[in-house]
Amino acid sequence: MRRVVRLVIVWLCGLALLAWLGTMLVERTTHAWFEKDLRLRAELALRGSGHSLVEPWRRGDRETVREVLEAITRDERVLGAAACGRDGATFVQTSGYPAELDCGAAATLAGTTSSGLANRVEAWHGQVQLANTVVYLAAVPLAAADASIGAVVLVHDLGFVMRREQQGRRFTMAAFVLFAIVTSGATLLTARLSWRDWSDALHAQLRGEPRARRRFLPLSHDVRALIERIVAERDAEHDATAWTPQRLRQTLQHHLRGERVVAVANREPYMHRRDASTGAIEVIHPASGLVTALEPVMRACSGTWVAHGSGDADRATVDTRDRVRVPPGEEAYTLRRVWLSREQEAGYYYGLANEGLWPLCHVAHTRPTFRSEDWRHYREVNQRFADAVLEEVESDDPIVLVQDYHFALVPRIIRARLPRATVIMFWHIPWPNSQRLGICPWRDHLLDGMLGASILGFHTRFDCNNFLDGVDTFLEARIDRERDGVVQQGHTTLVRPYPISIEWPVRWLDAAAPVATVRAEVFASLGLRSDALLGVGVDRLDYTKGVEERLLAVERLLERCPKYRGRFTFVQLAAPSRTEIERYRALNDSVEAVTARVNRRFGSADYRPIVLLRAHHEPPAVFRFYRAADVCYVSSLHDGMNLVAKEFIAARDDERGVLVLSRFTGAARELTEALIVNPYDLDEASAALAAALEMAPTEQRERMRSLRGLVAEFNVYRWAGHMLIDAARVRRTHRVNGRIGDSGLVRLPLDRG
Ligand code: G6P
Repeated sequence: MRRVVRLVIVWLCGLALLAWLGTMLVERTTHAWFEKDLRLRAELALRGSGHSLVEPWRRGDRETVREVLEAITRDERVLGAAACGRDGATFVQTSGYPAELDCGAAATLAGTTSSGLANRVEAWHGQVQLANTVVYLAAVPLAAADASIGAVVLVHDLGFVMRREQQGRRFTMAAFVLFAIVTSGATLLTARLSWRDWSDALHAQLRGEPRARRRFLPLSHDVRALIERIVAERDAEHDATAWTPQRLRQTLQHHLRGERVVAVANREPYMHRRDASTGAIEVIHPASGLVTALEPVMRACSGTWVAHGSGDADRATVDTRDRVRVPPGEEAYTLRRVWLSREQEAGYYYGLANEGLWPLCHVAHTRPTFRSEDWRHYREVNQRFADAVLEEVESDDPIVLVQDYHFALVPRIIRARLPRATVIMFWHIPWPNSQRLGICPWRDHLLDGMLGASILGFHTRFDCNNFLDGVDTFLEARIDRERDGVVQQGHTTLVRPYPISIEWPVRWLDAAAPVATVRAEVFASLGLRSDALLGVGVDRLDYTKGVEERLLAVERLLERCPKYRGRFTFVQLAAPSRTEIERYRALNDSVEAVTARVNRRFGSADYRPIVLLRAHHEPPAVFRFYRAADVCYVSSLHDGMNLVAKEFIAARDDERGVLVLSRFTGAARELTEALIVNPYDLDEASAALAAALEMAPTEQRERMRSLRGLVAEFNVYRWAGHMLIDAARVRRTHRVNGRIGDSGLVRLPLDRG
């Protein structure tokens, strides 16, 4: 408001100054014109009548001279005329001639003597102020035969000039005021019309009418950039506080209107199994990094988890729509089970997923097997799961979290049915480089299926780059490297790293006994001396985990450091996994063989260097081993992230214990305070084990404290929160682009978060 008042004042002052300058200019110009006019008229009149004056004047004929002068002064604007002799005396003056301007006075005004007036060569002109008027004086010398006779003084009434000037001034002022009113009015009208037009167009843009799009494209860009910056700044500020389940819920509420999420993952978080001996149904928490990470997220967000019902009592525990509320007793979200035939499971899960894609994505020297029959099942089962997801969603723009390599085709199927869906796909294992990917006969279909997602997440930037290179090599799609996006037929998929993690704090520790107590119990159960040293490894029995290499490193340690013989025991918790696959059975055999050999070489009647516990262990049992151990060795040959490493850190609230970690895990990029090793290099690995066993408590504490700080901050709520925030951004952008519809105009790009 103050700004408007200021503008009006400045505008009025400017106008007044302009009017004043204009009036002055007009006044001066007209005055100069009038003066010039009078001068010319006077000289012309006298010169024209000169001969009629000369003779009578020479003769001293006053009457005739007066008549001539009276004739000259008949013009209404001439007050009178006087003939001044060479002696300076008034020879004749007309009736209206002002008394105070006799010849003497006129000579004084002209700056000469009375006689001098007649002897001037040039005429003299000047303006004179009389008592109640202003006159214009013209004194023109008159000569005959080069001899001066006298001078005629003509007195013009300047009053009319003044009056004209005054009129002119008034007119000019009026013209300026009129001009100001007209131009201001026109400006206001134009501004108003333009504003209305602009605001109509802006409203049209906001309502999503395509016509308005082009005009506001640059503005939209600016506004978007500004909003993105503000949101990024706010998010950065927000990120300073810890990520918790509550904060994740708020994020969902705030960014995605609290919508329920539907997750689809092959492995179910809770498996119902019938105990063979008692017949009772028990609940199993399957050993799976995916389950470890996603389950806390689902508990925080609620919604539905669609999974393969693989437990032998799963059917007995669902309702008529194949649903069961989980976790048992807590019932925070719904588990929707999908049933597969044996053939489907064999082709889709064991075949394509675990004999094809799993070895394709892991550099662990197991050759992938691709069978077209498996591929057929894979497509069929992907369709089955996508259908189940579509049955679970409640709107046409749901949030769907597609998990892992079992469902590469699901994002595209959902996108085709629900174009407005926000599909977040996370790939929990590494992504191969283009040469490796090239050996898969269906690589193009896999890539295309995944590009149905709005966001495609990997653990590391390295995996993202491999994926983008694969798209570049095998598909017709544009890679937007600046925004980490793939643009295909107008649809953009953001491809970004979201390093996965675990919940913090871990719920299995809520009821955990103090470390000293647990250690004593575990030592007693293993028959270890109280001064024994304990190493632990926790894995599914999978060839990518480097379990053989781990046991070989223990063997090497005992070879190189005899002092540990009889004192150091390594416990390997090995959950049987994918046992229908030959390679896994072979692994089981070789792990058993290595264990037997090392135990033979270095064991005794009461000492086993390696304890192989080949069974499924529920999380509380696993955490007991983490808490009891001096060292945890994660020796994966290739691993997307590896959450065992993070779980071990979470378990050690006593800030003791050392993590020895393979450099080929995604976790090694974050957990730099661990002892990082090459698991193939047995000398290096065994030296790291020795260093861990000898590490001073203060150094253990320092390293563990730093690792715990990192995992606490970069927990799984942050992982999910960041993906949801990015998804919300993509959703907003797609909504705007959706409004643009088929106008054929350029779409807004998806910006970085
Ligand atoms: C990896 C995969 C998961 C899988 C887990 C266990 O972590 O990324 O998707 O659930 O292994 O494997 P399984 O075949 O038993 O589900």
